[in-house]
Amino acid sequence: MAAAALQTNIRPVKVPATFRAVSKQSPFRVRCAVASPGNKRYNITLLPGDGIGPEVVSIAKNVLRQAGSLEGVEFSFQEMPIGGAALDLVGVPLPEETISAAKESDAVLLGAIGGYKWDNNEKHLRPEKGLLQLRAALKVFANLRPATVLSQLVDASTLKREVAEGVDLMVVRELTGGIYFGEPRGIKTNENGEEVGFNTEVYAAHEIDRIARVAFETARKRRGKLCSVDKANVLEASILWRKRVTALASEYPDVELSHMYVDNAAMQLVRDPKQFDTIVTNNIFGDILSDEASMITGSIGMLPSASLSDSGPGLFEPIHGSAPDIAGQDKANPLATILSAAMLLKYGLGEEKAAKRIEDAVLVALNNGFRTGDIYSAGTKLVGCKAMGEEVLKSVDSQVPASV
Ligand code: IPM
Ligand code: MG
Repeated sequence: MAAAALQTNIRPVKVPATFRAVSKQSPFRVRCAVASPGNKRYNITLLPGDGIGPEVVSIAKNVLRQAGSLEGVEFSFQEMPIGGAALDLVGVPLPEETISAAKESDAVLLGAIGGYKWDNNEKHLRPEKGLLQLRAALKVFANLRPATVLSQLVDASTLKREVAEGVDLMVVRELTGGIYFGEPRGIKTNENGEEVGFNTEVYAAHEIDRIARVAFETARKRRGKLCSVDKANVLEASILWRKRVTALASEYPDVELSHMYVDNAAMQLVRDPKQFDTIVTNNIFGDILSDEASMITGSIGMLPSASLSDSGPGLFEPIHGSAPDIAGQDKANPLATILSAAMLLKYGLGEEKAAKRIEDAVLVALNNGFRTGDIYSAGTKLVGCKAMGEEVLKSVDSQVPASV
């Protein structure tokens, strides 16, 4: 159902009116490729954002173009502002033009948003607001966050080798509901004259069902184990969550379903992460657990993500932030964004062969010993962001056609 559509989301390419309108006035439009006869062509919106975002997106774009060209796939890239970059340019974190461009493209690749400069902005003028608005506008309710410990990087994990080695899990996070978006919310003064902040954790049955289906489908294509994480011993929203997920299990007899409270899950993730295959959870628990899972792999700089809707374009982004402390210094690890480009090809466009080329190229660059600072260990070759990108590009080029 949803997930099946998610996996083969190939749409005809259109050049929307807004594309032309925006391109006239916007300094952000980069180029529009001319397709060779017989090639497939996709429009990709690039949202470089803030901090290290522009550095890593420009590298991922080159890798995407190269991997595509080897598989008869061409791209038109259109760069648009989001986050702090948009605040500086037009005063809002998500301009209308960015929303239209994103909606009308075939997939969206985002770098990162946020930075010290905007940290004290009012809530609606914070860069993060732009990201949340974009997720809502694209209706990307299903966020896939894989955490895989690569054998080349097992010593980068803070966990013991025997605990980290072989970890390969997927967090399926609900992304457009729950406490992030629930109403009522706000800060008010109560009857005692004291300030009170409040938010609402709310899930409708259909929101739980659709994310659960994506998770069951995901687990089915992996090792067939699904762990639903909630706080059903305390929260009503979680009680309904557990009831709906349990009810769906009969449709997926090949998937082994278990349930876990979120506090226990947080503990089990560091105690014995290999027990997990696919985890499905709500928006806020998924935010927290995916950061925790990422660290098992050694570096948050390695992990990609895909945010998918029922039908429209998906949003693909590294799960790391904008890292303003190293921005512009050629120190960032571009691999999470490069791997997000691979997810874009695989989950967003159904271009599995080109995706595999990128995944393989990343492994080759790591096998050849290249490391950015965040994953460096003695005996490996320390490189900057650009050089790592070059190594991946070289590996994309030198591969024999990958089999899927
Ligand atoms: C993430 C981030 C975002 C979130 C922030 C930047 C709004 O932490 O993508 O995990 O909380 O979803
Ligand atoms: Mg987060």
